Amino acid sequence: MASVTSLTASVHQRLATALSATLPTADADPLLRRSDRADYQANGILALAKKAKANPRELATQVVARVESGELIKEIEVSGPGFLNITLTDAAITENLAARYTDAADRLGVPLAEHPGTTVIDYAQPNVAKEMHVGHLRSAVIGDAVVRILEFTGENVVRRHHIGDWGTQFGMLIQYLDEHPHELDHKDAEVSGEEAMSNLDRLYKAARKLFDSDEEFKTRARRRVVDLQAGDPRTLATWQKFVDESKIYFFSVFEKLDMEIRDPDIVGESGYNDMLDETCRILEDKGVAVRSEGALCVFFDDIKGPEGNPVPLIVRKSDGGYGYAATDLSAIRDRVHNLKANSLLYVVDARQSLHFKMVFETARRAGWLNDEDVKAFQLAFGTVLGKDGKPFKTREGETVKLVDLLDEAIDRASAVVREKAQDLSEEEIAERGTQVGIGAVKYADLSTSAIRDYKFDLDQMVSLNGDTSVYLQYAYARIQSILRKAGEVRPSAHPELELADAERALGLHADAFAETVAEAASDYAPHKLAAYLYQLASLYTTFYDKCPVLKAETPEQVENRLFLCDITARTLHQGMALLGIRTPERL
Ligand code: ARG
Repeated sequence: MASVTSLTASVHQRLATALSATLPTADADPLLRRSDRADYQANGILALAKKAKANPRELATQVVARVESGELIKEIEVSGPGFLNITLTDAAITENLAARYTDAADRLGVPLAEHPGTTVIDYAQPNVAKEMHVGHLRSAVIGDAVVRILEFTGENVVRRHHIGDWGTQFGMLIQYLDEHPHELDHKDAEVSGEEAMSNLDRLYKAARKLFDSDEEFKTRARRRVVDLQAGDPRTLATWQKFVDESKIYFFSVFEKLDMEIRDPDIVGESGYNDMLDETCRILEDKGVAVRSEGALCVFFDDIKGPEGNPVPLIVRKSDGGYGYAATDLSAIRDRVHNLKANSLLYVVDARQSLHFKMVFETARRAGWLNDEDVKAFQLAFGTVLGKDGKPFKTREGETVKLVDLLDEAIDRASAVVREKAQDLSEEEIAERGTQVGIGAVKYADLSTSAIRDYKFDLDQMVSLNGDTSVYLQYAYARIQSILRKAGEVRPSAHPELELADAERALGLHADAFAETVAEAASDYAPHKLAAYLYQLASLYTTFYDKCPVLKAETPEQVENRLFLCDITARTLHQGMALLGIRTPERL
């Protein structure tokens, strides 16, 4: 594995060296960016000149004289009030891409972090005995992409699926199942996710009905909660049946989402039960939490309720019961002290932001988190809206079942694939339809910044035009078809060839893959990678329109263009893989 220094980094390096030689005291950032006029523009000299009370154009001219152009820079000139326009040599572009090309196909010269940290990421956390909805989709899709991106940079990632598997609602369910012991028996050894969910749903409704109508059952159910929290073995065994049945359902949904969720990484709320007492004791000993009206609370100066009075974080209720906060605080202790995390990441709905703000602040006061080596961050996501811009509901006003949505996406995508398909069998259409449909749903989620709400619009998602995964998948498949047509002629780089504008633009963008991945990783922002890939596909389309590949003028040109095609394809493939999206070879 060989990491490749990007062209941008090399140019930056040369400019920074020249700058600090010219202005030794300056913090020499040339502020380099891609530009339309030349390959790059550097704007940093203006501000530096102002600080040094120098004439910016003169300073720029001095810097230019000091830049070592070598084989890399073809032209560097001062423009406007003191910008630098920089054009690279064609050979440098082709050679850099060739170096990426010879690295492993899935690395493309992207470096691994020298000092990776440990990130514990909390994502894909549905609730036991409940149907999954679009909010759970967002957490799973965004979390999965962030895991892949972070791991690609070399980060050590620990996944935690903090499922809702604890709490008072289980008293009712357990009591009901105890009184109707065969309700979760399975006739067949194999139970589908759908059956599992419908079993749970039936049980939930029946238990609820009894709970609401029968006072004695209610009392028995409440006693069950106490038994559960006390760890009574028989109660726990019944509770486990609900967890197991739910997992059958969860795994079926995650499989449909083409997502690997591992059982040992599922550590739900119940997993921290043994720590709750101690967590409270520590918080109280440290004076972080205080007793207030029988409850154990943490107060904050800047968090007020609607009437302006302080709203506390309740760690333990006055009846002795623990809630969501106690569990999350205990989970932080586990993640920091046992899992040795440097970063705690929570992919959770923005509507839980107040909770996390209070939990993180409490953990900071307790010394479990700090701003140096153990940080916590909520990667908060917005709401999924219907086409009408309102929170996504069925016509009857009910929450939309995630599975129904995914099935519909697959149906629509299969129709699109079928229409375009030339030589695909029925089986292939079904397989591609799934990859395109699931990809479309994921991409729609990942291509806008997480915090924004987005409209769930299947027509738009499976459209072949515009910023969709289907567009990217077709771009990839088209390249594969060209490579197949080339037959014996293999892609090969020819740095001696001059590049057309469309080739330069494509090549420079392909070279920026590593920087994009690094930025998407450090900002926890998969949408930056999605935007990059969309632009890559667009630049490829322009290149393909302007530059004949198989009919290029010389054999060398054909090989070099095939090489550009192939490196684009590899980048698309790897970039999409980091988003958790498949790129079929044929579409
Ligand atoms: N189960 C919760 C829900 O469905 C999300 C859990 C988020 N993670 C956490 N550590 N609190 O809303």
